Order: sequence, then C-alpha cells, then structure tokens
Amino acid sequence: MDKISRLVWSPEYSMKMDLLDSQNRKLFGLINHHIDLYEIGSGDYFRVIRYLVDHLSNQFHKEHMSMMIARYPGLLKHLREHQIFTVKMEEFLEDSLRGEKQLGHKMALFLTAWAADHVAVLDAHFGEYLLNHPEKREEIKKHNNDFEKQPFLYVVNG
Ligand SMILES: [Fe+2]
Repeated sequence: MDKISRLVWSPEYSMKMDLLDSQNRKLFGLINHHIDLYEIGSGDYFRVIRYLVDHLSNQFHKEHMSMMIARYPGLLKHLREHQIFTVKMEEFLEDSLRGEKQLGHKMALFLTAWAADHVAVLDAHFGEYLLNHPEKREEIKKHNNDFEKQPFLYVVNG
C-alpha cells in the first residue's frame, strides 16, 4: 500500500483570521487522523464521516457568515464548492452503509486533494481579499460571537 502524504498547515493557506484558520487546522487534523486509521486498517469510516460533517457544518457556516459580512465577491462560488463537498460526504456515507471495501482509500485521496485545492486556493483567496480590506476583517471580528449563536446542524444517527 502506498503511503498517503499527511496535510501540513502552511501560513500561505491563511485567511488572515484566527477564527477561520483554527477551523482549517482542525480539518487538517481530522483528515490526517482518517489517513492514520486507514493505514492501520480501521474500518470505522462512518465515525470519521460523522466527525467531518459535524466539524464542517460549523466551519462552512463561519466562512459563509464571514464572506457575507465582508460582501466577498467570491461568495457564491465558495458556497457551490462547499456544496460539492457536502454531496461527496453523502456519497461516502452511503458507501459506508453499504460496506464499500475501498472507502477508506477513496476518502483519503479525495480529502487530501480537496483540502489541498480548496484550502490552499479558494480559502486563501478570501484571505487575500481580507488583507486588502482590513476594515472588513474588523467588521467580521465584531460579529464573531454571533456565529456561535446560530448553529447549523446536520444530524447523523449512530
Ligand atoms: Fe471554504
């Protein structure tokens, strides 16, 4: 079995806000943890999907709210990319319920590629935008606590 590279956080991925960067760092940790489980032969991918959906529903919510507050021109494209990810998680969930044998490998490849592309390019682009609009960063910070009051939950049984 080929060893799959772990994700390593880099400052170039930064959205220039700790609020958002901490979410992506945690996402990298969850994906790396999945690769660890896959390589030691754990088959409990349902649990990994549950953690990912739980974490990302919160992370996506914070990104969407931040982009709306900042009147970010790339908001709709970003929403669509998050939606594509969500649909993929639904497919993996169905695979896990069917006992798909290659699921661990498929997830590891998809998650590392998605994170490398989405976080390093699209999320980082929002960071560039905020760097050029410091007044919008301040506006987002003012609303930071409001994000926590509006949970956006997916419910996954089990
Ligand atoms: Fe994003």
